[in-house]
Amino acid sequence: MTLFAALRLPSEILFGKGQRHALPSVAARLGKRALICTDARFAATSVFAEIVTSLEAVGIDVLIHDGVQPDVPAETVSLCVEDSRAFDPDMVIGIGGGSCLDMAKCAALLLTHGGALKEYYGEYKVPGPTIPIIAVPTTAGTGSEVTPVAVISDAERTLKVGISSPYLIATAAICDPDLTMTCPPGLTAVAGADALTHAIEAFTAARRGTDHSLAQKHVFIGKSALTDHFALLAIKLLGRSLEKACTDGENEDARADVMMGALAAGCAFGTAGTAAAHAIQYPAGALTHTAHGLGVATMMPYVMNYNLSCSVAELAEIGAALGLATSDLDDNQLAVAAIEEIRRLFAAIGITRTLADLGLSSDKLDWTAEQAFGIDRLIKNNPRPFDLDSMKRLVKAAYDGDLAASAI
Ligand SMILES: NC(=O)c1ccc[n+]([C@@H]2O[C@H](COP(=O)([O-])OP(=O)(O)OC[C@H]3O[C@@H](n4cnc5c(N)ncnc54)[C@H](O)[C@@H]3O)[C@@H](O)[C@H]2O)c1
Ligand SMILES: [Fe+2]
Repeated sequence: MTLFAALRLPSEILFGKGQRHALPSVAARLGKRALICTDARFAATSVFAEIVTSLEAVGIDVLIHDGVQPDVPAETVSLCVEDSRAFDPDMVIGIGGGSCLDMAKCAALLLTHGGALKEYYGEYKVPGPTIPIIAVPTTAGTGSEVTPVAVISDAERTLKVGISSPYLIATAAICDPDLTMTCPPGLTAVAGADALTHAIEAFTAARRGTDHSLAQKHVFIGKSALTDHFALLAIKLLGRSLEKACTDGENEDARADVMMGALAAGCAFGTAGTAAAHAIQYPAGALTHTAHGLGVATMMPYVMNYNLSCSVAELAEIGAALGLATSDLDDNQLAVAAIEEIRRLFAAIGITRTLADLGLSSDKLDWTAEQAFGIDRLIKNNPRPFDLDSMKRLVKAAYDGDLAASAI
């Protein structure tokens, strides 16, 4: 196989304790007026007040939008844009969880190109560059600080929608693990499990060929040499420290590992894409109103087992990255051990074990499978192909908690 890789990332990624103090220097290179998108929780903190003061100290005018809601309802984007158009910002700074970063991307998009958000739903609909975006995450999970995606909820659609375009990649990502120290265990678990799922789905994604037009036509293009590198780093860091960050939130080393894991996972899936676990979460999450990370992580062991027959080598490498490799395990045993370890780790941090536990009702299983099967960009990224029947069997297995049945 010809060596092939594609990677799209911010121009600048800064990571480490205290890196938030670099924000004024980074922002000053990009303009004089900054719209800040955050939520009421972070806006009320002294850390936020310090950040605003530090921006003003280098001569940057700041407009604060602190109305970001979880999962970014589409109408809240219009409100943010209406309130900030007269301010005419040179840049948008998103500070907060994935929802604040996604709001910043949507605001930059509409402030630059106008129109209604729904005109951009889907892939490659953004016509050109936006005003610069600086992403400063306070959760360790979504990877939105480096990805070309904004996820929003639109009351007119049952499932959440995505806007995917390389033009939505932040100019700069500033990741300071100190900002995640206040995340409670439940949020740490759900966000971190989302990140680990990103890394596993990116590493086991289909190989979609080496055609030069692939990355020009699609945002998510399957696994490749450079995305693999980031995915394995993420699996190693999250495997060794996610549980510790949940049980001992004061542990700075564990927090740093988990935030770097989420960042690296974002670097991987931002080009490789995710697959079946994410496809099934879309309808399952819409029906159960549960957090994105909880749904994808509930599905992950079943999807790994479904993929086992054609991803033994990749799953064995995941086992090695999780530190499970011993001389007496062959690849097949190591792959199975990797699935068991992900199941154990997710159970230990409080991830639901089954779709039934997630709150999905049994009369919605077929609908869930049909909707998931219809999300083409994720389904064609899965290493083992699907037809509708195999998707229905996988959803039923995850509902029943029957891991063995998910391989059939
Ligand atoms: N753009 C992408 O690439 C991408 C990828 C995956 C998921 N997402 C989307 O991101 C959103 C989820 O983001 P999220 O999981 O980061 O959560 P979030 O941004 O929705 O925030 C959830 C809650 O956590 C709180 N919170 C955030 N940081 C905190 C901190 N440091 N301490 C205490 N509380 C804190 C927020 O105030 C909020 O109440 C979803 O809409 C999901 O679909 C986007
Ligand atoms: Fe995700």
